[in-house]
Amino acid sequence: MDFKQLKANLLNGEKIQPFPIYQFESVTSTNEISWKLLDQGNAPPFVAIASQQTAGRGQWGRTWNSPPGGLYLSMAFDLDIPTINAAHLTLFSAWGIAQELQGYGLPIKLKWPNDLILQGKKLGGIKTEIRSQQGTITQGIIGIGINWDNPVPKTGINLQSFLKNQETCLITSLEALAVMTINGVLKGYQYYLSQGVEALLSSYLEILDSVGRTVLIEGVTGVIIGVTSQGELKVCLKSPGAKTEINLPPGSISLGYH
Ligand code: BTN
Repeated sequence: MDFKQLKANLLNGEKIQPFPIYQFESVTSTNEISWKLLDQGNAPPFVAIASQQTAGRGQWGRTWNSPPGGLYLSMAFDLDIPTINAAHLTLFSAWGIAQELQGYGLPIKLKWPNDLILQGKKLGGIKTEIRSQQGTITQGIIGIGINWDNPVPKTGINLQSFLKNQETCLITSLEALAVMTINGVLKGYQYYLSQGVEALLSSYLEILDSVGRTVLIEGVTGVIIGVTSQGELKVCLKSPGAKTEINLPPGSISLGYH
């Protein structure tokens, strides 16, 4: 299935043709492997999934601890999105996955820009990588890590620990979670293509748990009021006698967990 066909299927709400899933036991990073697969001539869209990663990539150059038991998955796409809209990939992916998981009874929220939050703790994250030519994104890798039954730090949560306290459990395996995640990204991409970024943004804001929170920026207190269509955080700063609105690009501040 080529790019035009995927886009047409998504726009028209048609059934998506099956696409390859490359499965690995252990890799450095499913994002890195996906670039290699593309360079070797494997046509997107495809999925790369691994049981563990030895050099998982996180946001802002961090590493993503990736022992067995977690979901480590990347989706590769051909794209034609203006490079200035690179943040849209993360917005639609995070929103789509959250929607899909909510459909299975999980009260998922988002933390700007791309953390999946469950009961106030980090359930997973998204690391998007792109290739651009002359101001247009031509290819993108959307890498998703979700804690299934792997050990997590204090600020994290895994799905199994949440599900064991639920009366009914609709997600019964890591494979099922992988399918839901893939469907979530496709759902988000479809919503973005058919409804546009403004509609996506207002839906994204509805499940963003950061709106209304107080942040401290260079000693000045601000309140998070939203997100721009470029994926920047909108903050209203309050200094005595003045109110200023500023937009912070992803990566410029890190919102803490409680
Ligand atoms: C974050 O820092 O919150 C983003 C983490 C993204 C991790 C996933 S795991 C699958 C894919 N491959 C990687 O190397 N990173 C992403």
